[in-house]
Amino acid sequence: MRNLSMQNITPTIGSVVNFDLASASSADMADIRRLLGERMVLAFPDQHLSREQHKALGKHFGTGVLHRHALALHSGSNDPDVVVVKADANSKYAVGESWHTDVSCDPNPIAVSMLYMKQVPENGGGDTLFASMYDALEGLSAPLRKMLEGLTARHNGALPWRDGYGIEPPKDQPYNVTVHPVILRHPETARPLLWVNGGFTQRIMEVSKHESDHLLDMLLNHIEREPKYQCRIRWQNNMLVMWDNLATQHIASWDYFPQTRIAERVSVVGPELAAFQS
Ligand code: SIN
Repeated sequence: MRNLSMQNITPTIGSVVNFDLASASSADMADIRRLLGERMVLAFPDQHLSREQHKALGKHFGTGVLHRHALALHSGSNDPDVVVVKADANSKYAVGESWHTDVSCDPNPIAVSMLYMKQVPENGGGDTLFASMYDALEGLSAPLRKMLEGLTARHNGALPWRDGYGIEPPKDQPYNVTVHPVILRHPETARPLLWVNGGFTQRIMEVSKHESDHLLDMLLNHIEREPKYQCRIRWQNNMLVMWDNLATQHIASWDYFPQTRIAERVSVVGPELAAFQS
């Protein structure tokens, strides 16, 4: 790849890549896709992309089809392909302030998201943490991992939005509810990963509700409390961060109230996951 220099954020996950995305050729994008497959999170500082260039990056990932979030037009965006991620002194909540994987409630969830920072909070804060679901799975003991094989879980779009923030979806686009494998084989890398998250995962289907509640608590705790599966992005204005939304989950730290943080997210739809049970 031309003009590329990079530094890993941790040995496990995340790299900072010094590369001008506006000048990327198809060959460069193929390299970036491979790198994303290995590192899961790539941060590109100092980008100068138009809205159309930001959207065009998406066609190099997943199915190449941009994801239209049920709430994109509620987010302050005038473009259904772009979610505005904004919190300020008037906000009652900030998008993504608990651990989640973007719209895992969809039958074909987002493969890759690309968040482009427009305004960082004046006095710092607003970092985003990402966790590797490959490493979270590998960190489980062999007997537990064996027990999870073949299990499935229901992911419900109403959990974060209706139950969490009290937001109703548009009438023509209800929140999705989908049953996915608990251990997923990544469609591109073929590596197994743990596919439950605190945002959307409601119930493990093959066990009692009581067992499901405790099992999910234990798995989510395992993911969320372990720094060695995680990296932290400290944003700068004009930084674009792309993440593999199947191999990771993330949390945005809302520690900057009442200051303002504004970013724009473009995401790409991945394949249906039913065929990727590990
Ligand atoms: C998101 O959950 O997509 C937003 C992440 C962020 O604001 O850092």
